[in-house]
Amino acid sequence: MASATVTWLPAAEKRPPRTSPVVELNGFTRRFGEVTVLDGIDLKIAAGEFVALLGRSGSGKTTLLRTLAGLDPVGGQEVTVPASRAVVFQDSRLLPWKRVWSNVALGLKGADVRARAEQALREVGLGHRLDVWPRTLSGGEAQRTALARALVREPQLLLLDEPFAALDALTRMKMHGLVLSLWQAHRPAVMMVTHDVDEAIALADRVLVLDGGRIIAEEVIEAPRGERTAAVRPLRASLLRHLGVDAPEGSYADAVARSGGVL
Ligand SMILES: Nc1ncnc2c1ncn2[C@@H]1O[C@H](COP(=O)(O)OP(=O)(O)OP(=O)(O)O)[C@@H](O)[C@H]1O
Ligand SMILES: [Mg+2]
Repeated sequence: MASATVTWLPAAEKRPPRTSPVVELNGFTRRFGEVTVLDGIDLKIAAGEFVALLGRSGSGKTTLLRTLAGLDPVGGQEVTVPASRAVVFQDSRLLPWKRVWSNVALGLKGADVRARAEQALREVGLGHRLDVWPRTLSGGEAQRTALARALVREPQLLLLDEPFAALDALTRMKMHGLVLSLWQAHRPAVMMVTHDVDEAIALADRVLVLDGGRIIAEEVIEAPRGERTAAVRPLRASLLRHLGVDAPEGSYADAVARSGGVL
């Protein structure tokens, strides 16, 4: 198989203007054997932009995210991504034999590694759990540690693959607030995979829907965050329709029930 062609962008101190894309795919295709999972994806993400990616189970969201993370072969296709990227998965993937601060510091280079890890943990509200073992963390704390581990690398692109899916509703809402404040402070471009239409609408500048290997819908959300609940009802209904759920009113839980579990 031909090797990956990856265009590295300049380091963080030479960031391009906000309008330049830091991510660019043109007609990107990914096959597993006979099955084409991504079928000619065109995607641009601007510096500092927050993009949410929705799609049914098996539609290729993780495959796309792994491509942007540089974790999968790209078969000679051109994939433009920043040099500094970080990924947070649904499970925190902490090493159980390393203390929390040490998990965050893992692989960090340069001076003051411990101090940087501690600062990142303080930013996610875990300044008091630096020296504990991962098994003693709650689910929300473990995901906050994973966020700290991502942010300490000061990524230009932060990739989130259903990072809050395993958390209870209240913890998830708190995590939304945390992610937004971290994003506002550090301004990475973000691509967040989620099944949750309401989560996508609450957090993102732009929402994409992946289906049949293609991006079948794209919605830019102009309304300020925090004022979106009423303003985005039609958008919510439209995104749900793209996901195969005709549920203009009612809760997301209703929509999931009506979808027969595809969301
Ligand atoms: N390494 C692999 N080898 C073969 N098939 C794969 C591989 N990775 C993913 N697939 C297939 O590609 C399709 C898309 O998988 P992917 O994990 O990207 O979906 P997804 O949208 O993230 O789903 P979910 O919402 O359930 O996480 C699925 O049919 C899956 O079985
Ligand atoms: Mg997935």
